[in-house]
Amino acid sequence: MHSEHLVTKTSLRRPRNQNKKTYLWAVKAPKNPFLLLGYHSKEYFCDRESELEKLAEHIDNERNVMLYAWRRMGKSALIKQFLQEAEKEKKLEAIYVDLVATNSIEQANELLIKAVYERFGKTSTGFSSAFQKLIGSLGVILTFDPTTGFPAFEIGASSIAKSQESLNSIGKFLQNRKTTVVIAIDEFQQITKFKEPGAEGMFRTFMQSYPGIRFIFSGSHRQMMTSMFLEKNRPFYRSCQLISLDAIPLELYTPFIQNHFQAAEKTISAELIAEIYSWCKGQTYAVQLVCNLLFGTNEPLNTEVLRIIKSEILQQDAPLFAAYANLMSQTQWNVLKAIAKEGLVTNPMSREFGSKHKLGAASTVNSALKMLVEKEIVVANDEGYFVHETLFGNWLATL
Ligand SMILES: Nc1ncnc2c1ncn2[C@@H]1O[C@H](COP(=O)(O)OP(=O)(O)OP(=O)(O)O)[C@@H](O)[C@H]1O
Ligand SMILES: [Mg+2]
Repeated sequence: MHSEHLVTKTSLRRPRNQNKKTYLWAVKAPKNPFLLLGYHSKEYFCDRESELEKLAEHIDNERNVMLYAWRRMGKSALIKQFLQEAEKEKKLEAIYVDLVATNSIEQANELLIKAVYERFGKTSTGFSSAFQKLIGSLGVILTFDPTTGFPAFEIGASSIAKSQESLNSIGKFLQNRKTTVVIAIDEFQQITKFKEPGAEGMFRTFMQSYPGIRFIFSGSHRQMMTSMFLEKNRPFYRSCQLISLDAIPLELYTPFIQNHFQAAEKTISAELIAEIYSWCKGQTYAVQLVCNLLFGTNEPLNTEVLRIIKSEILQQDAPLFAAYANLMSQTQWNVLKAIAKEGLVTNPMSREFGSKHKLGAASTVNSALKMLVEKEIVVANDEGYFVHETLFGNWLATL
């Protein structure tokens, strides 16, 4: 191994796919078993047995669910795995929408209608008659893209009242289906940023009005999600069962990784996997990324190859990471860097931490930390503060 540029072909940045069709269940086996996007099939999905069981139990017992976790732990993949497998067994019918790119109730509604269309509206000859009725009741303007022939929906329901009406029609339509419909709304915390106030209340009313429909809400802003569901004065207060997603345990990730390498007649040691897991701090996406790249090399799988891959990963995203510096003050940047270098900081306000990293007065550190936590660049668990995005933290630690 001589080259520092082992990784050339694989794009490291994870693409977002939310504008595509709601469900793209892949059929072909992937060339690389370590997926960097979504869900393919059970074979490429590691563990999550207890979470899947809990999810199934809640849905079976007509309880709605809120799923939350740190970023890139595998929330979306888990939901897709659950819905896809349950649909295969004809236990439910699923609608999945990702609100990440939406800024208004109107856009959220539009996504929902599109998802309903994708799932229930299409027949070989055009629209199903039930869907036509729904379109009629929604007052939706339907157009077709002249080149692709794909339908586009214009809703024009910008007021809360109109949106509630439109949700009602969708609710009635879905509640009338023979099989239980599950609506999964990913990145649900986005509704707190909608330009119109009252989106939370509107969705809550929607959920309450159609007890026959099951809901799975999911989001990456742990604090925002938990406060939405745990604060007394919020519309969603105690309306759902909470499921939190932690890292996949190393003992379960190790055989999963080894088996996939073995299937391609490659060998990877448990020690190397432990090293990967520790560098990735158990974050599913990062583990998948490193394994994906390792799988793509023809080199012997050892610490040296791993070192090069880690450095490639960080180099690839370095411009993006560096740009963060412009979004904050020097102190904020220094505090962030110091936390990254420590990995986990129990007490960032301590004199010891401050003087070790030359951060200045405790009050300055305090206000810098406050901003970092508010923006969820830094997050805290029971043990201390850490940089939310694992790879960003690893890059900062090298500075
Ligand atoms: N149980 C799993 N086994 C194998 N790969 C997984 C598993 N869960 C997730 N992944 C992979 O890990 C990556 C991150 O997963 P996913 O996008 O579901 O996380 P997320 O928590 O929804 O992230 P975000 O915070 O960005 O929304 C994806 O590439 C996905 O394919
Ligand atoms: Mg997600």
